[in-house]
Amino acid sequence: MILKVVFIFLGVVCAVGLGRLVGGLTDVDVNEEGVQNALNFAISQHNLKTEDPFLRVKTGVVGVKKQIVSGIKYVITVNMTKTNCMKDGTPEMPYQCTFSVWSRPWLSDMQLLEPRDC
Ligand SMILES: *[C@@H]1O[C@H](CO)[C@@H](O)[C@H](O)[C@H]1NC(C)=O
Repeated sequence: MILKVVFIFLGVVCAVGLGRLVGGLTDVDVNEEGVQNALNFAISQHNLKTEDPFLRVKTGVVGVKKQIVSGIKYVITVNMTKTNCMKDGTPEMPYQCTFSVWSRPWLSDMQLLEPRDC
């Protein structure tokens, strides 16, 4: 009986240890340092890559995860809307995006990873 408990306990310790080793995705707060930078970067890249002249803005952050991979990979799901700036500024056409941003601050490098799930 006691032996069984010890085995289960070891199993949990190993699983947690492995999780750290491979650097799984963990939930982080939207206000954590680095998240806003990554998010602003992703949205400006998203605006550069879209083919129409309408500005896209975020209307809400649904969730943020991060993973340590020779730097930090942020996976950010945001509600977006396509604005109609050329007319009266009324927001229209809401949609949701999940951006993956890879940040390596020591190289001043940030990249928006594909695929962008929008
Ligand atoms: C994002 O959009 C979904 C679907 O429209 C909505 O249910 C959810 O409340 C929104 N979340 C945020 C944080 O804006």
